[in-house]
Amino acid sequence: MENLSAEHAPVLLHEVIQYLDPKPGDFMIDGTVDGGGHAAAVMEKIMPQGAFLGVDWDRDMVARAEPRRTHGARERYAHGNYADLPEILAREGLGKADGLLLDLGFSSTQLARSGRGFSFGENAADEPLLMTYDDAREPVAKILRELHERDLASIIHEFGDERFAGKIARAIVSAEKRKRITTSGELAAVVRDALPKGYERGRIDPATRTFQALRIYANDELGNLKKVLEALPRILKPGGRVVVLSFHSQEDGIVKRAFRTAEKEAALEILTPKPVEASRGEVGENPRSRSAKLRAAVAR
Ligand SMILES: C[S@@+](CC[C@H](N)C(=O)[O-])C[C@H]1O[C@@H](n2cnc3c(N)ncnc32)[C@H](O)[C@@H]1O
Repeated sequence: MENLSAEHAPVLLHEVIQYLDPKPGDFMIDGTVDGGGHAAAVMEKIMPQGAFLGVDWDRDMVARAEPRRTHGARERYAHGNYADLPEILAREGLGKADGLLLDLGFSSTQLARSGRGFSFGENAADEPLLMTYDDAREPVAKILRELHERDLASIIHEFGDERFAGKIARAIVSAEKRKRITTSGELAAVVRDALPKGYERGRIDPATRTFQALRIYANDELGNLKKVLEALPRILKPGGRVVVLSFHSQEDGIVKRAFRTAEKEAALEILTPKPVEASRGEVGENPRSRSAKLRAAVAR
């Protein structure tokens, strides 16, 4: 289960700073700024002479970041998809950066109070089934009405590693025929009913994998990641660093392959031959760090 506390605790904070290596005067980008946990530690290192750009696809997170500003025009926020970072930099009149941080997925804050249907536990609020970061994306409630059972099953299997994907897809399609699924609570109940008792020996909520899969699909999370990694030469100066925190094996695989390809082309040098993981102590304090993998590289 994800940590349901409303404030998001930054994952692998010490290691992020170690690999991003922000120095006084640097220009740093946080492509997934959210509540600004990592961002605050980055700004501590680069200000007062540095510059910071925080990007988030969730407009609410950008709106919440603005009032926290303490460094005037040197600290900026922009709403957008990190996949479009070259265009965001051009729009903001900014050049290439000394560092880019991507902390993928969604935050505890969004889980607890985005009102967008990300959360699914027995005690979670029943919210409209959007599960998108940005309003321009098609909400999951609509996706569920449009997909064929076969495609739904393959999405849940592929992005959720869910072995009961076929059963769940069948249950969703038949529930949709009776009455449209419009809230997170309704979807979680359908998934729970479709699964055998004692699912995963109670280690995770039965809806966890299905919700993860639908969120990844609805936001094209893997596509965004591939796009931003391909765009790194247009985002980073030579010597600039990229640090990616991922929480899903497919995301980590994409980062690993993209870094290796770029290293072969002499565009990047990998700093983490193996992904860095959270210590047992951190996992105990912050359950979200359990599946975190950090990879870092420096642009050539
Ligand atoms: C795990 S949180 C980041 C937490 C942050 N590092 C901190 O310490 O507070 C991930 C954030 O990325 C945002 N996000 C997800 N996909 C995005 C994308 N494609 N472009 C920009 N932001 C995205 C989410 O809205 C969320 O706010």
